[in-house]
Amino acid sequence: MRFLTGLQPSGQLHIGNYFGAILPAVQLQYKGEAFYFIANYHAMTTMSSPQALRENTRSLAVDFLACGLDPQRAVFFEQSAVPEVNELAWILSSVCPMGLLERCHSYKEKMARGIASTHALFAYPVLMAADILLYGSDAVPVGKDQKQHLEVTRDLAGKMNEAFGAGLFKLPEPIISESTAIVPGLDGQKMSKSYGNALPIFGDEKTTRKLINKKIVTDTTPLDQPKPTENSVILALYKLFASARDYETMVERHRSGGFGYGQFKQQLFEAYWEYFREAREKREWLLEHPEYVDDVLSAGAERAREEANKTLSRVRRAVGLV
Ligand code: ADP
Ligand code: TRP
Repeated sequence: MRFLTGLQPSGQLHIGNYFGAILPAVQLQYKGEAFYFIANYHAMTTMSSPQALRENTRSLAVDFLACGLDPQRAVFFEQSAVPEVNELAWILSSVCPMGLLERCHSYKEKMARGIASTHALFAYPVLMAADILLYGSDAVPVGKDQKQHLEVTRDLAGKMNEAFGAGLFKLPEPIISESTAIVPGLDGQKMSKSYGNALPIFGDEKTTRKLINKKIVTDTTPLDQPKPTENSVILALYKLFASARDYETMVERHRSGGFGYGQFKQQLFEAYWEYFREAREKREWLLEHPEYVDDVLSAGAERAREEANKTLSRVRRAVGLV
């Protein structure tokens, strides 16, 4: 079973990304063959600063490794280190009806947000299909928002098989983590980098402590009174980091009264800080050893290219390019 997924290097990772994407990917490494890449070509559809693209790509590589991506198990690479993907995207484009792309929600939603409508933004799902088909992926773990792009991928694989030979591509299955709870942001909405409500995985101590203290809004129940446990951001976040027992204790303390929100926030900070301790230490080490990160990415790229070239030579032959 081969799993593949791509993550866009679009800025500092938050704990919603961790529980929704990074942790599931790390767990899948042990269940099959994993191909994970940093989607820097895709990021170009929304980013125009070369420096930001370079820095975000690097920091995503470091952070993903720090969070447990094991390069002995997973093939880890930058999308642009395998430029062959563009050739496959072109070939897929030749069977891709315009209407299929015109229907994509993600494209329409990005246009509505004012993102420049470029050919790359429009053709984004074709490049994504190429990512998936180039490596013969069986299953693709993605967030709900990417479900339609997986349908486009299956559609294009089917059209290619029809036009150029049955069995040219296998049809990948999406793994949509419906069960992964949406991590709430500090303001109670879905945590997202665009809402200014994110708790970073690797924030510095003082800033994150302050974020938790200042940004989580609480009511004015007096200290000695019981506190509501429904829709509590503190409890929802604490649950992600604390043991079941510590979580139950905090729920009890909400119910009994006699404990203030300040105290709960401090406990939340401490649990968060402890939860990522090992990852933080690993990250420090990685930042001090950039050559190690380079080696991981170039070994990953080499392995990925091998696979890419196998697929591509088969496809080139099938479509009449050789
Ligand atoms: P953002 O909303 O911050 O822009 P992205 O859309 O870049 O995040 O998401 C990257 C990955 O992280 C996706 O797989 C997405 O499903 C996951 N993710 C993002 N925010 C959350 C959240 N609040 N809860 C669970 N998963 C999330
Ligand atoms: N579009 C995906 C996202 O924004 C990133 C991505 C690019 C991807 N290529 C992929 C995900 C291939 C899975 C498979 O989250």
